[in-house]
Amino acid sequence: MTITRRRFIAAASACAALPALRCGAAGAAPQVQVLRAGVSRQQLVPAQFPDTEVWSFNGAVPGPLLRARQGDTLRVTLRNALPQPTTVHWHGIRLPNAMDGVPHLTQPPVAPGQDFVYEFALPDAGTYWYHPHERSQEQVARGLYGALIVDERDPPPFDRDETWVLSDWRLNRDATPVDDYDSNLFDLTHAGRIGNTVTVNGRFTPVGGEFPLRAGERLRLRLVNAASARIFRLKFDGHAPQVIALDGHPVAPHPAGEGVVLGPGMRADLAIDCMGRPGERFVVSDVFYPRELQVMEFVYRDEAPLRREPLDAPLALPPNPLAEPEIARAQRHEFVFAGGAMGGLREAELQGERLGIRELVREHRIAWTINGVARKHHVHEPLLTLKRGSHHVFALHNDTAWHHPIHIHGIAFRIISRNGRPAPHREWADTALLAPRERVDIAFVADNPGDWMFHCHVLSHQSGGMMAAIRIQ
Ligand code: C2O
Ligand code: CU
Repeated sequence: MTITRRRFIAAASACAALPALRCGAAGAAPQVQVLRAGVSRQQLVPAQFPDTEVWSFNGAVPGPLLRARQGDTLRVTLRNALPQPTTVHWHGIRLPNAMDGVPHLTQPPVAPGQDFVYEFALPDAGTYWYHPHERSQEQVARGLYGALIVDERDPPPFDRDETWVLSDWRLNRDATPVDDYDSNLFDLTHAGRIGNTVTVNGRFTPVGGEFPLRAGERLRLRLVNAASARIFRLKFDGHAPQVIALDGHPVAPHPAGEGVVLGPGMRADLAIDCMGRPGERFVVSDVFYPRELQVMEFVYRDEAPLRREPLDAPLALPPNPLAEPEIARAQRHEFVFAGGAMGGLREAELQGERLGIRELVREHRIAWTINGVARKHHVHEPLLTLKRGSHHVFALHNDTAWHHPIHIHGIAFRIISRNGRPAPHREWADTALLAPRERVDIAFVADNPGDWMFHCHVLSHQSGGMMAAIRIQ
């Protein structure tokens, strides 16, 4: 009580002293009631090239930024104007199972021309996102996603709060999308369908990708990786971002170090004190792959600095109400992720049959397994049933030559260790990025009842077998 009050007063007085600061829920946007999934056109590449047919929510990629306050209830009608059934999954939100948006498992898919109403409370503040879970290897790749921001009731002060939805596209020379969502066996068996055109908030970035800054301001930058397969490692020249949240949840503020790594599905909130001089420019680049890629350019406006020294105010976000896993009494479970090129997988089980890898790939578009079993559909016997309220450690072994962002619906977990070494920040997450051959231990309390997907967020790995369901009852 006292702490809350003191923090409130500190924030309130910081606002009074510095009129430029936005405090509280100043960023709240008008509530969007309807998400209409449909076909639209968007200029993804420079203006001298044609525009591109995209699938989008409310006519734009990314879809509308949904924003609410922690503890509020979100109510959104999905209207399906696509040529396929669809759903909306609210990635990272700890919601009731019936609202999770997994076709067949938690709801019937919404047919073209039909509506579905999602309504749920928002227990945690942070940066989340939404996307279909039906044919996501196509629907997400075509542009169906948007950010969902849940504002803290009592946030530390920032001058500005911005969101970058990072994504990529595989385009032909005439800017039409390459229609190989299911057919590309190389993507299936390697790193997934990585595009050839990177966008930030639906715009091609090296050209016109300028992000204006005011000298002296403190920016909260929310990053969402909505790409189907691309991993980002963002490096901010001339700046020293502090990581303040991962996958929505607060983490002890720490320097981004060798860059901010985001596998598909993952988010990071950064605090950036913009201490460049008016007129200066700095490149933000992705350095995950051997070929460095400019993602954005910070451009300081010719304007008097807002302040000369970085803002002297705390960065730590108030914690979310998550149950703390007790490792000593946790049950342990081992999961082996296998398959893919250079993985040595010879055979696997699919729908009760044991099949050789050649047949799986050629006939079934399957190349990946969890504990020896590949799954194609969202409904199957749960891989594991956990008692509600019980504590668990999952040891996730990546027995492949590829990265896998492993996502669990309905809960958040702590990252405990990597290859047996304690994780320095023990961050909360909903997606754990496993490097090739890496082992990551995570821990959580199974406190949200329902059938929850457990899958790789490289979408062609997911549709290629690397998924399962976990039941909490
Ligand atoms: Cu972001 Cu199962 O998904
Ligand atoms: Cu994967």
